[in-house]
Amino acid sequence: MIEWLQYLPEQKPKYMAIKKMIISLIDKGQLSSGDQLPPERQLAKLLSVNRSTVTRASDELVADGVIERRVGSGTFVSQQARPQARRVNWHTYLISQRQSQSQNERRQLQQLIRRKPEKLIDVYSSDLPLELVPQFQFPALTWQDFITAQALETPRGYQPLITAINQLDQHNKRLFFTEEQLLMTAGVQQSLFLILQGLLTPGDAVAIESPSFFHDSTLFEATGVRVYEASVDADGISLTALEELIIKHRVKLVILNPDYQNPTGHVMSFQKRKAVVHLCQMHQIPIVEDDVFGWLGFDTTRPIPTLKQLDPDNVIYISSLSKIMGASSRIGWVAATPQVIEQLTRVQHEMDLVPSIMAQVMVTLAMGDPQFQTQLDQLKGMLQERAQATYKMLERVLPDWHVYLPAGGYYIWVTYPNHKLRLKTFIDHQLAVAPGSLFGLKTDALRINFARLNAIDLVALEQRLVAIIKATE
Ligand SMILES: Cc1ncc(COP(=O)(O)O)c(C=O)c1O
Repeated sequence: MIEWLQYLPEQKPKYMAIKKMIISLIDKGQLSSGDQLPPERQLAKLLSVNRSTVTRASDELVADGVIERRVGSGTFVSQQARPQARRVNWHTYLISQRQSQSQNERRQLQQLIRRKPEKLIDVYSSDLPLELVPQFQFPALTWQDFITAQALETPRGYQPLITAINQLDQHNKRLFFTEEQLLMTAGVQQSLFLILQGLLTPGDAVAIESPSFFHDSTLFEATGVRVYEASVDADGISLTALEELIIKHRVKLVILNPDYQNPTGHVMSFQKRKAVVHLCQMHQIPIVEDDVFGWLGFDTTRPIPTLKQLDPDNVIYISSLSKIMGASSRIGWVAATPQVIEQLTRVQHEMDLVPSIMAQVMVTLAMGDPQFQTQLDQLKGMLQERAQATYKMLERVLPDWHVYLPAGGYYIWVTYPNHKLRLKTFIDHQLAVAPGSLFGLKTDALRINFARLNAIDLVALEQRLVAIIKATE
């Protein structure tokens, strides 16, 4: 007969003490596989605790496989309870990674795309279809070429790539940096990670746009940063909402996507750019300008200056080649003052996040293709055609929806008045499309990647939308 109370450790919470007690009794051999434990009510009495405390301990021991409940018979020490047989209970680790609603929706869309049903239309994925990806020519390379290329690596990246990116920024965006102001990274997301990790401390607050591509980004959680959202109007972030956040939450950094914002496609007006820069200067807050779509403006004859041009000191500019060469190319860059670049470079090296020399060499070669700029211009022309065709179709098929015709990027943004459309309906109709909820929007909206729609797919999308609307009426 076990003197239960004598073995209960002095520890809080009590249910943990009970778990420990039972495990230690098994370890010492005082309880063996198949032994029956007293009923929960009785054990609670013997230990002078509430029954719910014993139940909680038992539940966890059952989940860990230490004890088992047999219906109608009671609770027993299980067969695997021997100390050497006890294993990590992966289940408890896996369920602790709870997913938000938008992450869950994202997973459902990815599952649909992975299943590749015959009639799938994918206007959710955020990359170009293969036929639009520019075709760059590469010389034959040997493994030795990559090893030799390491001689040209600087702490901020592969020197020829830094030079190529600098020229690209000058040519396409009229941004003039010295090479000490540029750091090569593995893309915009990594650049943002380095900024959050290197310039902020856990608990600091950042402001982003709403809706935003970064709405459910795990970057903020990973760096311990609090994130607040300010609404976006047709001409860019709402200044009133942003200032309120800055004051209320002592925002330390503002992250903006002024050109062809993901998901709305909106372009921040020149007036708004000047006002945002001024507001952040007043509060001495740096801005991160995410210009991942900056290369894909359809009309480049009258470009609006970047925030970086308006305030070179306070704005950290980040961009990448993901939207031209595919996200897997994983090459991006940060342009900031030399002091900021030095700090971010240190973090990048400490965390061993330096981009691979192979990616850097290959991208440099692609950018050195004499047809690079021509191909980029052709891509923009094709994107513009697809944007207009998709816009016309949506206006015709969805007369009471609001369709926004973008001036660049990949996305058409559609908002609609009725609230009947659920993600499940789209998935049931094998249409992968991004609902506004993925970007933190409470009202109904859709983001459509028109770049993926050739003439045939556009007709298919039209028919699918008609069928979906009919099914929900
Ligand atoms: C606004 C925005 N920022 C950043 C990214 C991610 O860019 P990267 O692939 O360079 O990390 C994306 C990708 O879709 C995006 O839309």
